[in-house]
Amino acid sequence: MSARVVVLISGAGSNAAALLDAAAEPGYGATVVAVGADRRGAGGLALAQEAGVETFTVPFADYGDRGEWNAALSERLDAYRPDLVVSAGFMRIIGAEVLARHTVVNIHPALLPAFPGAHAVRDALAYGVKVTGATAHFADSGVDTGPVIDQVAVRVEPGDDTASLHERIKSVERRMLVDVVGRLAREGWSVQDRQVSLGGPGIRQSPSTEYVAEENR
Ligand code: GRF
Repeated sequence: MSARVVVLISGAGSNAAALLDAAAEPGYGATVVAVGADRRGAGGLALAQEAGVETFTVPFADYGDRGEWNAALSERLDAYRPDLVVSAGFMRIIGAEVLARHTVVNIHPALLPAFPGAHAVRDALAYGVKVTGATAHFADSGVDTGPVIDQVAVRVEPGDDTASLHERIKSVERRMLVDVVGRLAREGWSVQDRQVSLGGPGIRQSPSTEYVAEENR
């Protein structure tokens, strides 16, 4: 059995596209069952449709407040019974209601805990760091604060601007995401005191502490 993955996006969806490609390979261990967005017309939705994957939108503006929007998102996610939700360039804070029900992996274009938030690449450049990168982590109730699953470093080159640096980060970020999701799906994981280990003991405790996709073992 393949792990069921729902991918959430806000924009171009190049990370979602990389996951769709990987999941099409036999033996990857995960299947993308849906791609969802917080806005209509997010580029990645068309890519998913071309790949024959279901899409949905939960536009923030359609709901009265953050609570209602989170409840709607939670309901949509529940319908797909995902083993993993992947926030791949999803520019919204996912609320506690969703996090209590689903394991959410987020990617971030910086080496956390440096430069959390929506402007990580710009902030890293402005600070003048020589090395930045990408992080995959489990989402928790903070902004980019959850347990780190993997990180990859990227050098800042002389003359880089936000666009050029972000492009280089995104190319390593996509590979990392594909690797991380495949390994989580095939091997399972555990989290203890923020330490993420792949290859957990195969006991589901709660989505936020320990879970192994047992069907995949
Ligand atoms: C990624 O760098 C992600 O980390 C950030 O937004 C970018 C999304 O790119 N939050 P794409 O939509 O997957 O092309």
